[in-house]
Amino acid sequence: MGTCVICFANNKGGSGKTTTCANTGSALSLMGRKVLLIDGDMQMNLTLSFFGEDDVLEFAESGRTVYEAIVKEEDLSSYIRKTDDENIDVIPASTLLTSIEMDLFTKIRREFLLSRLLKKVKDSGDYDYILIDAPPTLGNWVMNILIASDRVMIPVEATPWGLFGLANMTDFIGRVQEIAPGLDILGIVVTKADERKNYYKQMRETLSELDEIHVFESVIHVDSSVEWAQDASSTVVKYKRSSRSAKEYMQLAKEVDGLCQ
Ligand SMILES: Nc1ncnc2c1ncn2[C@@H]1O[C@H](COP(=O)(O)OP(=O)(O)OP(=O)(O)O)[C@@H](O)[C@H]1O
Ligand SMILES: [Mg+2]
Repeated sequence: MGTCVICFANNKGGSGKTTTCANTGSALSLMGRKVLLIDGDMQMNLTLSFFGEDDVLEFAESGRTVYEAIVKEEDLSSYIRKTDDENIDVIPASTLLTSIEMDLFTKIRREFLLSRLLKKVKDSGDYDYILIDAPPTLGNWVMNILIASDRVMIPVEATPWGLFGLANMTDFIGRVQEIAPGLDILGIVVTKADERKNYYKQMRETLSELDEIHVFESVIHVDSSVEWAQDASSTVVKYKRSSRSAKEYMQLAKEVDGLCQ
């Protein structure tokens, strides 16, 4: 198996992209896979899932985040940070990513920049997986993230508005595939499900009617452990292995690993 690059994208905010990216990464690392996580969002929540606030601020001050790599068009290898977990490395984000759309505007072949800067890391074979957390937007930066990826996972929140806008996302991916034909949709993963709510059941039915897009068997339920883990700069998979969501993320990672072999 070569290195599989997977991004977590959905222009709907709060759909569980970052939580799913961080926990899938953690779960894959527990399965012995070597994982690099790239934080593509100015909110820096993915970075905060592996480092404390002081470290995250220090990364930003040092000028060694994904933002500077893009602006200076530098290979991403030298931006990699080690975490406490020997199977997980991270390329941090900074709040400067707020201006990334403007910075990309003047670049030649701007849609392909991240892909180009990631090539050396990908070809090194150092990682089984490179997971990229996308922000809740649909612009040139997310296009870069999609083009740099082999697969895209779409986390969808189990709420009435969770599916609203999904067509925008899949249309956008369709347009990106015209210039990046290698990009596949890995699947939709339902997050923050609450079985006590009827809406969840209706949503499962709607999703089962989508025949072109795979829907993951594993569903992530609402679980307060997710938030406690985030409060402790950790993933729920590491923080509380016995919790429902940790088990669900382990299951999801097995599905992902099975599809990527
Ligand atoms: N399974 C869960 N149980 C409880 N809370 C959750 C769960 N998954 C995510 N959350 C919470 O929901 C919020 C949104 O999750 P997350 O940040 O992962 O979404 P996102 O799609 O990355 O958001 P954004 O679009 O802002 O980047 C967070 O506060 C997170 O703690
Ligand atoms: Mg996020």
